[in-house]
Amino acid sequence: MSYQNLLIQHEGHTATIYIHREAKLNALNYATITELKQAFQALENNPLVWGVLLTGSGSKAFVAGADISEFQDKSPEEGIALARYGHELMDKIANFSKPVLAAINGFALGGGLELALSCHIRIASSQAKVGLPEVSLGLIPGYGGTQRLTALIGKGKAMEMILTGDMLTAQEALQWGLVNHVVEVEELIQTGQSILSKIYTRSKTAISAAIQAINAQDNNAVDGFEQEIKAFGQCFHSPDFAEGVQAFLEKRNPKF
Ligand code: COA
Repeated sequence: MSYQNLLIQHEGHTATIYIHREAKLNALNYATITELKQAFQALENNPLVWGVLLTGSGSKAFVAGADISEFQDKSPEEGIALARYGHELMDKIANFSKPVLAAINGFALGGGLELALSCHIRIASSQAKVGLPEVSLGLIPGYGGTQRLTALIGKGKAMEMILTGDMLTAQEALQWGLVNHVVEVEELIQTGQSILSKIYTRSKTAISAAIQAINAQDNNAVDGFEQEIKAFGQCFHSPDFAEGVQAFLEKRNPKF
């Protein structure tokens, strides 16, 4: 499939998605959200893809937010529809069955930070800046930021970030637990690849089950402990479990 606003490169079992609207700092317009939904669906269905790296084209931005030019003259109902459309994408990424890693190469603001928050792991270049500046537009985060940022860094810090609208530097984001690693920009993609490569040596069945169980924490309608217990039990059915235990007993690496 070809896209107007995305570039997708395949290397080994990793698909790297570049959000590709450099002139607009990769702002998420409606068309880009649509393409991201299509791309993630295609990658979910592709058995040769074991993980996804998500990043922005160019050196300046990961994604500088939802496309503000599409906000003008929207009614409250249209605002709700837009937020739901964005939420569908963020939920699709958060619940993706394979690991998704955000490589934050520059500004990750508003919807851009919400996109990174929906990924399973975040790493940042030392030049990156992150923030949820929606209150300066008379808005609040609408693609999951109030919930996912709070779950990630805690209520007090999320309140400060969202109410001030201030940006954090990459180092501050690291200290606040918003990103897992900060590296130089030229090492960003390679660092993401090596984290994914390590995950690829583990059981894919177990990885998917772990993602689902961890995500249960965000869903009040689900008892996360119960979900963990059931998913743990399901693993006992899988060939990977038999191989993993056998390999341990034979003192060799498992072949998943
Ligand atoms: N939506 C639409 N267009 C955007 C955008 C966004 N979120 N962020 C940047 N752009 C566009 C600018 O309008 C500009 O387009 P133009 O050249 O056609 O005028 C282009 O991207 C470059 O941005 P510019 O503002 O000139 O770059 P800068 O280096 O001076 O500033 C930022 C960079 C990120 C600080 C600034 O672009 C910004 O504040 N963007 C909006 C951030 C935001 O509020 N995001 C949350 C949205 S909910």
